[in-house]
Amino acid sequence: MRFQPWVPVGRGVFSWALALLLVLGLLCLLSAYRLLDPDFRESYFEQFLDHFNFESFGNKTFSQRFLVSDKFWKKSEGPIFFYTGNEGDVWAFANNSGFLVELAAEEEALLVFAEHRYYGKSLPFGAQSTQRGYTQLLTVEQALADFAVLLQALRQEFGAQDTPAIAFGGSYGGMLSAYMRMKYPHLVAGALAASAPVLAVAGLGNSSQFFRDVTADFNDQSPKCAQGVRDAFQQIKDLFLWGAYDIISQDFGTCQPLSSPQDLTQLFVFSRNAFTVLAMMDYPYATDFIGHLPGNPVKVGCDLLLSESQRITGLRALVGLVYNSSGTELCYDIYHQYQSCADPTGCGTGSDAKAWDYQACTEINLTFDSNNVTDMFPNIPFTDALRQQYCLDTWGVWPRSDWLQTTFWGGDLKAASNIIFSNGDLDPWAGGGIRRNLSTSLVAVTIRDGAHHLDLRASHPKDPPSVIEARKLEATLIHQWVKAARQVYTEGQPSSS
Ligand SMILES: *[C@@H]1O[C@H](CO)[C@@H](O)[C@H](O)[C@H]1NC(C)=O
Ligand SMILES: *[C@@H]1O[C@H](CO)[C@@H](O)[C@H](O)[C@H]1NC(C)=O
Ligand SMILES: *[C@@H]1O[C@H](CO)[C@@H](O)[C@H](O)[C@H]1NC(C)=O
Ligand SMILES: *[C@@H]1O[C@H](CO)[C@@H](O)[C@H](O)[C@H]1NC(C)=O
Ligand SMILES: *[C@@H]1O[C@H](CO)[C@@H](O)[C@H](O)[C@H]1NC(C)=O
Ligand SMILES: *[C@@H]1O[C@H](CO)[C@@H](O)[C@H](O)[C@H]1NC(C)=O
Ligand SMILES: *[C@@H]1O[C@H](CO)[C@@H](O)[C@H](O)[C@H]1NC(C)=O
Repeated sequence: MRFQPWVPVGRGVFSWALALLLVLGLLCLLSAYRLLDPDFRESYFEQFLDHFNFESFGNKTFSQRFLVSDKFWKKSEGPIFFYTGNEGDVWAFANNSGFLVELAAEEEALLVFAEHRYYGKSLPFGAQSTQRGYTQLLTVEQALADFAVLLQALRQEFGAQDTPAIAFGGSYGGMLSAYMRMKYPHLVAGALAASAPVLAVAGLGNSSQFFRDVTADFNDQSPKCAQGVRDAFQQIKDLFLWGAYDIISQDFGTCQPLSSPQDLTQLFVFSRNAFTVLAMMDYPYATDFIGHLPGNPVKVGCDLLLSESQRITGLRALVGLVYNSSGTELCYDIYHQYQSCADPTGCGTGSDAKAWDYQACTEINLTFDSNNVTDMFPNIPFTDALRQQYCLDTWGVWPRSDWLQTTFWGGDLKAASNIIFSNGDLDPWAGGGIRRNLSTSLVAVTIRDGAHHLDLRASHPKDPPSVIEARKLEATLIHQWVKAARQVYTEGQPSSS
């Protein structure tokens, strides 16, 4: 929105009163969407290194980071909202989960964001934690146990022993919040699992689903756009086959000229990842979550692609939304800006990326591929066999294909209760999640025109109606769960009279 300078045309009191009214009206409107500042306090907790072994690490601990805000909390009475942190710096999730803050203010809750071990600053073995040989304590089970122990310790510290807690999370964090409710139902009364691909990661998905759904977003934006993407990849492939390596490098803007089939594949996965990011982050307003992106980035990307006279330069401009958002990259360093790993939807770069790669090599199955038939990308296989080889070479581990189904129930969740599975229909992860109501308390919410866990974000004037509805339903269910759990606590106490 652009503000025009206000020029009062009339003279006298009337126009000034009008101006004042307008300003007041505007302030009211803004305050409806005011950014509540929770004033998080950043702390560290001495956490057991190994919850499941009494010998090798004995009593040894590491410092687990967490954020806490008691600004809205009604002492000893309000519930605890506990975000089960995922694969990154905990601040990134706290900064992008304004819905929790708004709900905490409404429900007078104590707000906690816990960092996942091996990510951000919660490094069990310091800087070397994510090097081969130091990763053995990085499992979903250890992370959940961290959350359980931290939650109990915070209850003690804040005098909140008898107050219900609700787990929250998005994406992998959403999986963790659901698992938290399944493994520690006496500690959390319910969970909001936003955009949690619990089926896909347990091997119950379809390997072509992810990139098919990324493609759908661009095709729905305009079939011309999806065709333009196919044409761009075709043009690059043709140039490569003709040996026109320098032309690819010049037109696409790679730092090094391509010279091998491996370079071509790298350029393909580097590019494909930009589409993944745009589809996941297709919010109606600009965000700073996975990089700095404009509002409606899929549309913006398509416009960029189609505005160039050549498809290859169009593709260069489109991927620039992700890899050149600063506008300062002179060329694309395709091996550094995108690093292939056990997750073909992208691990990112740096230490967090390494930790996630290890998780994708052990418990979490993400063997998605693109095939140039059900999607618009070049055929880039990623099979169980390729994953196994990669994981053996990189980490010296074999993925255990059935373990996640065994330990976190696969798709058979009927023994669980009080979990909301929310998914946006623009989100390529939605197809790997729970899309149907499984019982009266295992509720699936679909958010039309919603990207990756849009519902966790703060309210925004550009929110589609569906997400406003979804948040309302989530708030209602959470309020009910808290109320019911509080009654149980109260009835369970020995009577004081
Ligand atoms: C281990 O922890 C327990 C209880 O916290 C303590 O009593 C004991 O002294 C510790 N042992 C060692 C070797 O630090
Ligand atoms: C979170 O937001 C704060 C305040 O805007 C900012 O300083 C910080 O860099 C952000 N952190 C992350 C990881 O996004
Ligand atoms: C991994 O997931 C894919 C797709 O969801 C599935 O086809 C494959 O069989 C799974 N692999 C294992 C080892 O479970
Ligand atoms: C995966 O989905 C595609 C369509 O997108 C379908 O052709 C294929 O049969 C599915 N694979 C499995 C194993 O269900
Ligand atoms: C995608 O498939 C089409 C049709 O089979 C083929 O002509 C084209 O070369 C393929 N594109 C790429 C980039 O491999
Ligand atoms: C990055 O953006 C700047 C500014 O628009 C542009 O000059 C530069 O060519 C872009 N880099 C690439 C690799 O396209
Ligand atoms: C699940 O049930 C809720 C009501 O509890 C309803 O609002 C929602 O639309 C249902 N979800 C699906 C996918 O049918």
